[in-house]
Amino acid sequence: MPTGLRFDETQGQSATATMGAETVAYRASRDISYVMMPVDPIQRLNVFVPEAYFHGGTVNGYQRVTAPIFMPNTVGGYLPGPRDFPENPDAFSRGDTIVRALQRGYVVVSAGLRGRTSTDGQGQNTGKAPAFIVDMKAAVRYVKFNAGWLPGNPERIITNGTSAGGATSALMGASGNADFFETRLQELGAAPATDDIFAVSAYCPIHNLEHADAAYEWQFKGINQWHRQKVRVENGRKICTPVHGRLTPNEQRLSPELSAAFPAYLNGLALTDQAGNPLTLDAAGEGSFKTQIIHELLASAQHALDAGQDVTKYAGVIVKGHTVTRIDWPQYLRAITRMKSVPAFDALAVNNPENDLFGSRLTAARHFTSFAQKHTTVPAQLADADLIAAVNPLTYLLKKQSQVAPHWRIRHGAADRDTSFAIPMILATKLRNQGYDVDFAMPWATPHSGDYDLPELFDWIDQLCQ
Ligand code: DHB
Repeated sequence: MPTGLRFDETQGQSATATMGAETVAYRASRDISYVMMPVDPIQRLNVFVPEAYFHGGTVNGYQRVTAPIFMPNTVGGYLPGPRDFPENPDAFSRGDTIVRALQRGYVVVSAGLRGRTSTDGQGQNTGKAPAFIVDMKAAVRYVKFNAGWLPGNPERIITNGTSAGGATSALMGASGNADFFETRLQELGAAPATDDIFAVSAYCPIHNLEHADAAYEWQFKGINQWHRQKVRVENGRKICTPVHGRLTPNEQRLSPELSAAFPAYLNGLALTDQAGNPLTLDAAGEGSFKTQIIHELLASAQHALDAGQDVTKYAGVIVKGHTVTRIDWPQYLRAITRMKSVPAFDALAVNNPENDLFGSRLTAARHFTSFAQKHTTVPAQLADADLIAAVNPLTYLLKKQSQVAPHWRIRHGAADRDTSFAIPMILATKLRNQGYDVDFAMPWATPHSGDYDLPELFDWIDQLCQ
């Protein structure tokens, strides 16, 4: 048994943090290696435990052995996601989430995960896919291996993340104990334990990358202007500059081709609504699946209207009295605007973050769709099909060769254009169809972001764990 991975609570340091009106006392154990043979200094984790649990106390009805274990990641853009801590001044940090979780009585474990730009110092890449998920699994195995030593209930692990981090969280939930990762986990000296989890919190998960280009054009075809923010970090702060552009004639030609491929994929998933009716699309991209998305948006707008928001700030939202009667799909999409060019993810010049993610030890970037490979504008390879599939949560829901988390909370803002609405909708629907417990919503006027409703997220966790 690798005793080097044994958690030692006596190493913890006591501290306090204040958020809102509440100060929480906690004990921090930092910079713990979660594998025996790390390949990158980022492969360490921090453990934060409400101080009360070291004195036989309770917080929010939880005790040392019953507290949920909340595992937020800081992955963004599929870049390396460092371990986090309360009052961390770095731009990537979600230290406030950690403090709020501690106030609710959760044990928080924040693991650093390799990302697409990780290298070994000799120019070789060490963080290309599937490194991010291998590391997250190794961190979960560390926690489960330390059942009884590490405070909290290892049967109540909840992962959390936003965007690429949301995809990481969703993939954790879908791929529990999947064979694909076993050799890689062994090579790192991961703890001998399982990596299936209890619940997933995923905000705007940028996942299902091999179908995201088609889904994007299915949604945005005909809209030829794009608008996005260029983000850079200066002195630990994010600085955003707006960038605008127009699809080139070639991109405008490719858009309907990609869009035309989407219905066949969607129909092959055999999704149904809650009453058992098929959710499908015809060759023109029309049908009950699209109606279902519009229905979600309408419910979201109604919820916002009921709360006093002016939902007509977005064109295409039709309100009569106190009722949102209709969402005009083309008008609404023009109002939220297109963000990405064509293809949205698998760039023909292999210069998108996702191309970089699918690089290899010696290759900076690769394609991950046969469409972009066929149209490539630079010499480039196509990543292995089994790798592409292995980092897509949907793969596991279709193949049923993993232990899927029973509980899911998925949020995707109604103003989010980083991926098509179809992508989170497919995930939530497939999970529901397979009988998993799914709380899915598309919060109104909410852009690509996460952790914006922590009280509700934590209420959801409490209702599952208390
Ligand atoms: C993220 C956003 C994207 O638009 C994308 O393509 C990949 C990752 C992110 O914010 O993590």
